[in-house]
Amino acid sequence: MVLALHDNLTRLEEMRQEAMQGGGDKRITAQHARGKLTARERIDLLLDEGSFEEFDILKTGRGNALGEDNYCYLGDGVVTGHGTIDGREVFVFSQDFTVFGGSLGEAHSQKITKVMDQAVRVGSPIIGLNDSGGARIQEGVDALAAYGEIFHRNVEASGVVPQISCIMGPCAGGAVYSPAMTDFTFMVEKSSNMFVTGPNVVKTVIHQDITSEELGGAQVHGSVSGVAHFVMPNDVLCLREVRRLINYLPSNNRQKAPFLDLWDPPERSDPALDYLVPSNPNQTYDMNVLIYSILDGAEFLEIQAGYARNIICGFGRMGGQTIGLVANQPSVLAGVLDSDASTKAARFVRFCDAFNIPLICLVDVPGFMPGPEQEHGGIIRHGAKLLFAFIEATVPRITVIVRKAYGGAYLVMNSKHIHCDINYAWPTAEIAVMGPRGASEVIYRREIKESKDPDATLAEKMEQYRKAFVNPLLSARRGYIDDVIFPRDTRHRLIRTLQFLESKKTRQPDRKHGNIPL
Ligand code: HXC
Repeated sequence: MVLALHDNLTRLEEMRQEAMQGGGDKRITAQHARGKLTARERIDLLLDEGSFEEFDILKTGRGNALGEDNYCYLGDGVVTGHGTIDGREVFVFSQDFTVFGGSLGEAHSQKITKVMDQAVRVGSPIIGLNDSGGARIQEGVDALAAYGEIFHRNVEASGVVPQISCIMGPCAGGAVYSPAMTDFTFMVEKSSNMFVTGPNVVKTVIHQDITSEELGGAQVHGSVSGVAHFVMPNDVLCLREVRRLINYLPSNNRQKAPFLDLWDPPERSDPALDYLVPSNPNQTYDMNVLIYSILDGAEFLEIQAGYARNIICGFGRMGGQTIGLVANQPSVLAGVLDSDASTKAARFVRFCDAFNIPLICLVDVPGFMPGPEQEHGGIIRHGAKLLFAFIEATVPRITVIVRKAYGGAYLVMNSKHIHCDINYAWPTAEIAVMGPRGASEVIYRREIKESKDPDATLAEKMEQYRKAFVNPLLSARRGYIDDVIFPRDTRHRLIRTLQFLESKKTRQPDRKHGNIPL
C-alpha cells in the first residue's frame, strides 16, 4: 500500500517533469534561437515570482484524426492557470510553440476556455500569450470548433473582465480574431505576425510578393492597421508592459481601478503651462507637455502610440485614481479628427466606460479632415463612433479646451452639448462654428470680392471675427464652459473635479443595447 502511494508520487513527479519539457530540448533551443522565450519562461516573467498555479498540466489531446501514430504531449501545447501581478489575481494561458507549433486543437482549446470561464466567474483579467501555427491540422474540423469556443468566451467576457492578448509568434487565419476581440493587443517586433491570409495566399490570389513582416508584422499593425495597441522590442519588455497596463485597470466591471498614491501633490501647479499655447494660432505645440505635466508622477501609458497619432489615448493617474485620457495632438496633422483617430478614440472611450475609468478630454481640434479620401472612406460613420461612444459613456467625463474647438469636431470631443459633466477652457480657447478664415470667406464673400484690396479686407474681417467669436468668453457666458481656468492650475482643478464626480450616478434607458455605427 505504502509502496503504491510512493509509486504514484514518483509517477506524478515524472509526468510533471515531462510536461515541463514541452516539445523537448531541441525545439526549446530553436525557440530561443528565434529570440523567443518558452511558454513557461514567459509566464514566469509575467507573474509575481512563485505565484503561478497551473491547471491541466496532465491533459492531453485525443490523438490524430489522420489515423497516424501521433505522440500526445502532456499539457497539449498550452500552459494555463492563474497567478498574481503585484498581488492581484489574473488568469493566463501561454501557447507552447515547441509542441506542434503551439497549434490549437480540442484539448488545447478546452484548457484555454477553462481559464477564461474561471476568470469571468471570479472577476479577474485574462491574459493570453499567443505563439501558434493556428488550427491543429491533424485534428481537422475539431480544431475549428475549438476556436469557436474561444471566440464565444471572448465576447461573453467583453466588458466583464479586461482581456489582454500578446502576440509573441505567428498568429494567422481565423486565429487572429480572438486577439482582435480582446481589449488590448501587444505585438513583439520581428518575432510576431498577424494576418488573415498569409504571403503564400497573397501570392496565389493577387500575385503579389510580400514578406510576413511586411504583411502583418508588429510595425505594420502598430502604425498602419491599428490592430496592435502596443509594439514591444522583445518578449521581456512586452511582459513587463502588460504588468504595467494591468496596474491601471480594475479586475472587473464591478470594481474601480486600484488607487495608487505616487506622492505627487494634487495642488501642484505648473506656471510653464501658461506659455504652452503659441500666440500664433497656426503654430503647433506638443500636447504631451500638458499631459505629462498634469498626471501624477508624469506617468502615462499611451495606447496605439504609433497609430493615428493626431489623437492621443492612454492611462494615467490623477490624485491616485486611474483616468483615461483622450487628447488631440496639434503637432500631428494639426490635431484634426479623421477616420482612424475617431475609431481609435471611440474604442478607448468604450473600454474606459465599461471598466469605470473616468475620462478626461484635452481639446485642440481644428475640425474634421476634409477631402474625398476621408469622405469615401466613411468619415461620417467613423466620426459617429466617437460621438456615440462619448454620449454613451456614463463614467465621470471632464473636458479642457486648450485651444481650437471648431464646429462638429468641437461637439464630438466631449462637449457640454453631449452631456459632458464638467467643461473647462483655457483663456487661449477658440470655440466657434468655424475658423476665422473659413467663416470670413463665407459671411463676407461679397464685401471681399468687391473690395479694392481683397486680401486686406479678408485680413480685417478675420480680425473682426476673431475678436468677436474666437475666445472662450462667449461660451462661458452661455454656460457651455463651466469655468475659464488658468493653465497652470489645470491639474488641481481636474483632481478636485474627479473627486466630486466620484459618486456620479446616471439612469440607463431600458434596452438590450444601443446600435453604435460600426
Ligand atoms: C499542426 C503544426 C501546425 C499546425 C506548425 N506545426 N503549424 N502542427 N498544426 N497548424 C508544427 C510543425 O509541423 C512543426 O512540427 C512545428 O509545428 C514547428 O513548425 P515549423 O514549420 O517547423 O516552424 P516555422 O518554420 O517557424 O514556421 C511556423 C509556421 C508554419 C509559420 C507557423 O509552421 C506554418 O505555416 N504552419 C501552418 C500554419 C497554418 O496554415 N495553420 C492553419 C491556419 S488556418 P515539428 O514536429 O517538426 O516540430 C487556421 C484557421 C483558424 O488557423 C480558424 C479559426 C476560425
